[in-house]
Amino acid sequence: MPNTGLLPHYTTLHAAYLHAEGERGTDYLLEQLPLQGNEHVLEFGFGTGATLVKLKSRLPNLALSGLEADPEMRAAAAARLRFCRLAGQIDLLLQPDRDRIPKGSLDLVYAESVLAILDEPSFADALHFIAATLKTGGVLAVNESIWRSAVTLSEIDAINAHCREKFGIIQCSAAMTGLKATVKLFENSGFSLLSATHIPPGWRPDRNHKPFREYLSRLFTVQGKSRLLFQPRLRKQHAQFSADMGALFTPGREYLRGAVLLLRKTAAV
Ligand SMILES: C[S@@+](CC[C@H](N)C(=O)[O-])C[C@H]1O[C@@H](n2cnc3c(N)ncnc32)[C@H](O)[C@@H]1O
Repeated sequence: MPNTGLLPHYTTLHAAYLHAEGERGTDYLLEQLPLQGNEHVLEFGFGTGATLVKLKSRLPNLALSGLEADPEMRAAAAARLRFCRLAGQIDLLLQPDRDRIPKGSLDLVYAESVLAILDEPSFADALHFIAATLKTGGVLAVNESIWRSAVTLSEIDAINAHCREKFGIIQCSAAMTGLKATVKLFENSGFSLLSATHIPPGWRPDRNHKPFREYLSRLFTVQGKSRLLFQPRLRKQHAQFSADMGALFTPGREYLRGAVLLLRKTAAV
């Protein structure tokens, strides 16, 4: 097999928008962000960089940077930025370099499908870092798939154990079960809730946004996915992941729901 784990597989495929509602989820999140266009903004866990391209294309004067844990993901995002003619315009940092971001310097941090897959110590570390680098009054925006309140702890534990074994990551932390408990996690770390929404059914993004670079970004994603056509072992691995995902949930039962939270950092850390 070319690699193991779902995230390395997605890196090879240049997969984009790996979160609730895919690209639509990102379009919805971006529409909620309180940005004028000249702020200091960080994406926490940028993956292959598709959201960074989308945001920078729409607001070119943002001072935009990203922080990633995985060097391979960072390399894929750097390749996407080059492909989209954005090389050098977005600072792509790895976790060991995170102290280059000055404390209290950021107006906004956003994360999509990152915080819910972290274990407890990593989640605490991430929130502490985000709170420390945001200005007081700065905003944390998250787009995460969280467990519906009716899902039991034993179901969650079983699904997360399956995901850890088959994909190398969990689906979602049991601590993020229902909106109320999820919001409390952030409130306990120095944030206050501004809004909590789900993407309204039928919501559609503003079609006027389709800068040239977003088309290039889509092409970069297709280029990665086309590897499936030419690499049988990659195709086999993809089929295996798809089958394992198909076995994850009981048909007809709803487990997760995408939530977009906007939170204000309330106190100096
Ligand atoms: C499910 S992927 C989502 C990627 C991207 N946000 C998206 O929505 O397409 C989770 C990403 O978070 C990154 N990640 C995990 N833990 C992290 C951490 N502590 N700091 C920064 N990135 C992290 C992973 O390497 C991966 O790229």
